[in-house]
Amino acid sequence: MAFIRHYKPSDFDAAAQICRETLAPSLVGSEPAWRIGPYVWTHPFTHLSPTTCFVVDDGTGKAVGYCIGCPDIPSFMASYQRYVDDVLDRPGSEVPRPADVCSQREPWTLPDGSPNGTCLAQTAYNAEWLLVSGNEDLVDGGYKATMHINLLDGWRGGGWGRKLIERFVEAVRAGAMPGTRGIMIGVAPDNGKVVPFYERLGFRLDEGGEKGSIRMVRDL
Ligand SMILES: CC(C)(COP(=O)(O)OP(=O)(O)OC[C@H]1O[C@@H](n2cnc3c(N)ncnc32)[C@H](O)[C@@H]1OP(=O)(O)O)[C@@H](O)C(=O)NCCC(=O)NCCS
Repeated sequence: MAFIRHYKPSDFDAAAQICRETLAPSLVGSEPAWRIGPYVWTHPFTHLSPTTCFVVDDGTGKAVGYCIGCPDIPSFMASYQRYVDDVLDRPGSEVPRPADVCSQREPWTLPDGSPNGTCLAQTAYNAEWLLVSGNEDLVDGGYKATMHINLLDGWRGGGWGRKLIERFVEAVRAGAMPGTRGIMIGVAPDNGKVVPFYERLGFRLDEGGEKGSIRMVRDL
């Protein structure tokens, strides 16, 4: 029988698969997004903040969905070099280090509109670009926790999303630093259909942010 448990290192490949199979519509079919995506949206959290990372185990040990994140973005950023050293820069890494990882980020898309692999790799290497750029107001306002949630097809619509978020919120409450007000998340602009799900779980739309972005917050 399926159940929720903490992420463990042996879930690495399954977690990457979940990320890849649930990429936002605009990223589907992109080789760089498929290869690098998990190193941007999944592995940083599972590596650096496993106490706030949960998976749905299908009952055989296989992770079929996750809610992963961190309780405190500033502390997470302070530890980010460990992720770079242990995961991104390890021999055989799927994410070659881009020439510039700190001064000038490339555009998100190439002139033909496809995802820019260099920008994705730069984002994987730079926690500021990954989490804070464009969200300074929310982090400064106390929304210092963040998360991602994804379930494989076939595991959706059965209540696992709600249960995962409840476990995540519980863990964040336990690990929150003084001054933390809540959780902020970004939703891909072409995946707006999930907004009602988040609203059911206590999130609300935030009107700020860059034009076209969808940001949501939830108080703890
Ligand atoms: C989004 C996702 C995590 C939701 O998980 P889920 O298990 O399907 O959702 P649940 O069954 O737990 O639904 C929780 C509640 O939200 C409601 N809900 C879910 N989707 C909804 C929708 N599109 N519109 C309105 N309500 C919705 C459910 O009715 C349920 O309400 P209740 O618990 O009050 O009865 C899952 O569908 C998924 O992984 N989708 C694909 C990947 C994705 O888009 N991830 C989000 C990236 S930002």
